[in-house]
Amino acid sequence: MGHAPVQEPVQESVEQAMTTHSGLAAWVEEIAKLTQPDTIHWVDGSEREYAELADELVASGTFTRVNPELFPNSFAAFSDPVDVARVEGRTFICSEKQRDAGFTNNWMEPSKMKEILDDRFAGSMRGRTMYVIPFVMGPLDAPDPKYGVEITDSAYVVTSMRIMARIGTDVLRQMELSNAFFVPALHSVGAPLAPGEKDVAWPCNEEKWIVHFPEERSIFSYGSGYGGNALLGKKCFALRIASVMARDEGWLAEHMLILKLISPENRSYHVAAAFPSACGKTNLALLEPTIPGWKAETLGDDINWMRFGKEGELRAVNPEAGLFGVAPGTGWSTNPNAMAAIAKGNSIFTNVALTDDGGVWWEGMTEEVPAHLTDWQGNSWTPDSGRPAAHPNSRFCTPIDQVDMLSSEYYAPEGVEINAILFGGRRKTTVPLVTQARDWTHGIFMGSTLSSETTAAATGAVGVVRRDPMAMLPFIGYDAGDYLKHWIDLSAQANQARLPKIFLVNWFRRTSSGGFAWPGFGENSRVLKWVVERLEGTADAVETPIGFTPAPGSLDLSGLEVSASDMADALKVDPAEWEQELQGIEQWYARFGDSLPADMAAELEDLKQRFAA
Ligand code: GDP
Ligand code: PGA
Ligand code: MN
Ligand code: MN
Repeated sequence: MGHAPVQEPVQESVEQAMTTHSGLAAWVEEIAKLTQPDTIHWVDGSEREYAELADELVASGTFTRVNPELFPNSFAAFSDPVDVARVEGRTFICSEKQRDAGFTNNWMEPSKMKEILDDRFAGSMRGRTMYVIPFVMGPLDAPDPKYGVEITDSAYVVTSMRIMARIGTDVLRQMELSNAFFVPALHSVGAPLAPGEKDVAWPCNEEKWIVHFPEERSIFSYGSGYGGNALLGKKCFALRIASVMARDEGWLAEHMLILKLISPENRSYHVAAAFPSACGKTNLALLEPTIPGWKAETLGDDINWMRFGKEGELRAVNPEAGLFGVAPGTGWSTNPNAMAAIAKGNSIFTNVALTDDGGVWWEGMTEEVPAHLTDWQGNSWTPDSGRPAAHPNSRFCTPIDQVDMLSSEYYAPEGVEINAILFGGRRKTTVPLVTQARDWTHGIFMGSTLSSETTAAATGAVGVVRRDPMAMLPFIGYDAGDYLKHWIDLSAQANQARLPKIFLVNWFRRTSSGGFAWPGFGENSRVLKWVVERLEGTADAVETPIGFTPAPGSLDLSGLEVSASDMADALKVDPAEWEQELQGIEQWYARFGDSLPADMAAELEDLKQRFAA
């Protein structure tokens, strides 16, 4: 890219010696000239390097070493209070034509955006180290590995990327062999240091830019250190840019967990589930079934790359290497498998609370609330402080291979065959516990009209119902109508008999007294059992206007203490609620304009007809 005047030459010899990949060498040199770091560090991904960076982060005050007797080799970071979540309002898809970004994305003319970025990145790394992180999303031995290189001035990002993605010298060497294409992903916290200036614990800039150039397949992130904005392999690459690659190459990049279920008869099923951020993916991905004889194994908890295999079966791969999970609500009773993985250590916690013995804590971790804590902002905290001790979007970042229930299939480049897809959201009303779609196209309709109350995972109001197609609203890297069309068109590649069955779920419906109608967490295995029995054709369903819901007695509730009235609340399809819902869907679809696929408009008409009948 063109850029602002160069102040002084940077150590060009260093980076030139580091790679034989000509495109990468040139890009690193260009960015070093633009951003003016003190030094350049090529990240090798080793344990020793990780330990050294962690020590530096402890020394600079970014990391607090967690008591190793409680959580070995683990660190806690506390962000600036203005930098705690994804910033959707500052996230841009700068396609050449505005039409291709669609109505769900912010857009700016690419050349205008590049001018802004050039200005912000010019000198942005002064006084800092520039880290070059080669990474690959998905197994390195995949037939078509998807490479990226993140340049960042944040050691917190380097240590977190080492947990979340496959990074380092092995990846670089393989990229070099074929001078492979990589997604250039530039990140700066936007806080250059004047000579002698002391750094703060969490450098960032009040102005944030999270920018994607889909045609060029490049990413620029400025001003934030928060994971979803700064770990560029995750949302920026594996969802926004990858969704564009997937459109062009005939596959799907989705915001989905991947879970393997094994029945008492020892039959295996694979389920993918798309829920918006902070709506239960990590929990379902680490499910501990409560029904006897059923087992579950984890493949992924946030991102799922799917393509049709040789026999027309839909195969899924998790491109990530770690969990970046919502901490609050993750506890020994609700999610023991996540807790066991975290307790093995090697984790980075962000914006959690600290216990007096140097451990970490967050709301819901233990039933007993500690009498005293240091909250995420460093203040003394007691149970009657009247505010949460951990930020609602505080996170644990933990290697996925520490999950005891990790499936061996996680490592397979060819992935697993998906048998069922769940779409789900957080709805207090209207949406039943589980509904099976009438067919594939109706299932896409369910996904396209998915709705959820907003959460703390993104900045802005919490608890407002919004439409979130396939839980991808903040992550579709192109026009939302084209995205739905891509879902519809792709099934031409499918073996129809092996197309996954699609279901809509809602763990979050409330009763009239305000509590959750359904106990959730491990008990969700009962819903999955019904899903599997629907695949096998052995569970009964009731046909409703919105799809098939469990017939009385078909959902296994044995041993569960849930009242008949709560179950009725969880399962009901209330025409009055749906009258409102239909209006919401119509308003939503109106926003697509011309790009709404005709099949989806037809599904809406059919749904209205079924209610009218
Ligand atoms: P993700 O961001 O989609 O991965 O969601 P998580 O699995 O991290 O869960 C987000 C929040 O929802 C956490 O506070 C969980 O405790 C809570 N949660 C997850 N599953 C359930 C459930 O089945 N029922 C209820 N009531 N809460 C849940
Ligand atoms: P989540 O991942 O979906 O687990 O919340 C992070 C995010 O979506 O911001
Ligand atoms: Mn997510
Ligand atoms: Mn998660």
